Amino acid sequence: MLVVVKENYEEMSKEAARVVSEIVRSKPSAVLGLATGSTPIGLYKELIRMHKEEGLDFSKVTTFNLDEYIGLPPTHPQSYHYFMYENLFKEINVDERYINIPSGMVEFSDINKINKFCDWYEEEIKRAGGIDVQVLGIGANGHIGFNEPGSSLGSRTRVKTLTPSTRQDNARFFDGDVTKVPKYAITMGIGTIMDSRMIVLLASGKNKAKAIKDTVEGAITAQVPASIVQMHRKAIVIVDKEAGSALEGEFEEFVTEFK
Ligand code: PGA
Repeated sequence: MLVVVKENYEEMSKEAARVVSEIVRSKPSAVLGLATGSTPIGLYKELIRMHKEEGLDFSKVTTFNLDEYIGLPPTHPQSYHYFMYENLFKEINVDERYINIPSGMVEFSDINKINKFCDWYEEEIKRAGGIDVQVLGIGANGHIGFNEPGSSLGSRTRVKTLTPSTRQDNARFFDGDVTKVPKYAITMGIGTIMDSRMIVLLASGKNKAKAIKDTVEGAITAQVPASIVQMHRKAIVIVDKEAGSALEGEFEEFVTEFK
């Protein structure tokens, strides 16, 4: 695992964009695993800039998003469909046919339908040739995607119940009203994420410092789902100074360290 500590959010975002864009340049039909949340917005801004100013071409790229809230239609401003279109897809030349995001509108009352949908999503990832690079944020509780603490480390795409702490963290996007935050989500599993050929995990801000310390230096445990990236053959953890502030060692500006 490579740990890169950057001076600030902007530098973290640029470094992540450098890594992702290199993959797209060297493999125009790359399969990108994408994440939502506030953390990757700077990465997406930089990719948009690279597309507009440097001609970075997404026309052959396929994308798979990590997760989606159950019950939110794609038109809902807090759905991850909406987020992805607003923050990335509408600004680049990705082909709509190659965009994949779990549906939040699968009939939730019918577990067979949901399971079938989740199996289908897994198959689509395989059919696309697997994910070349998976972008991840991290929850303050160590979750990746919506794989909350206690998630099976070998899990595949499935429905997860969001923890009260995650719903509280995300209430800021729902007028601060936790009762508006959906209770369930469809998420790629930890096993699904680990199958990707490369992982780029991003974190910014003091409130992620403990999760990053536990992820990078702690025991591998389902209680900190992100800690499984220690087992990945090609994982890069890119954080800003605040998110890296609890790490052991002398992390100066622009420090890069293999763990
Ligand atoms: P954030 O969320 O980027 O909005 O902090 C990250 C996550 O919960 O995975």
